[in-house]
Amino acid sequence: MIVRRSKSVEETEAFGEALAKSIGSGWVIGLSGDLGAGKTAFVRGLARGLGFKGRVHSPTFALLNQYEGGVMPIYHLDLYRLRGPEDVMGAGLEEYLNCPDGVSVVEWVERWCGDAGATEGVGAGTFRRVYLSSLDEHTREIAYDNAGA
Ligand SMILES: Nc1ncnc2c1ncn2[C@@H]1O[C@H](COP(=O)(O)OP(=O)(O)OP(=O)(O)O)[C@@H](O)[C@H]1O
Ligand SMILES: [Mg+2]
Repeated sequence: MIVRRSKSVEETEAFGEALAKSIGSGWVIGLSGDLGAGKTAFVRGLARGLGFKGRVHSPTFALLNQYEGGVMPIYHLDLYRLRGPEDVMGAGLEEYLNCPDGVSVVEWVERWCGDAGATEGVGAGTFRRVYLSSLDEHTREIAYDNAGA
């Protein structure tokens, strides 16, 4: 686990942008952290790092935003409103959580796979987790799962 501190939204975006450099097609990046921890900010940077030029916002009310025009399609999911894996299946989201044809970035991923470690309960694709937590108003701790990287 790699642990970093961010002192601003821009810095959190930059961490996401840096992670984008090591991402390949079919990857799933699962984000965990409380409301306002910076998950969407991290995804914004990650999408930028993959060459997406448009607006990135939380799909909390839509479950899924799709970003096209970068090096590969980006599926931005937010499972906050779902209670568990049954809801994820019911919403037809499994295809984005197991070897998608682009990269999936999933806020509140624990709704799907629980709080277990890196690959528990997850399909065959490459799965990485990112944990964000608020230390104070402007400081965030960002922990990356770099298993096998
Ligand atoms: N170092 C920081 N990194 C990221 N965001 C920060 C930081 N410091 C303050 N913030 C603020 O925290 C909030 C992060 O919002 P963001 O939407 O990215 O969080 P989130 O984890 O996606 O929340 P949600 O669970 O509601 O989707 C923003 O209001 C941002 O301005
Ligand atoms: Mg969000």
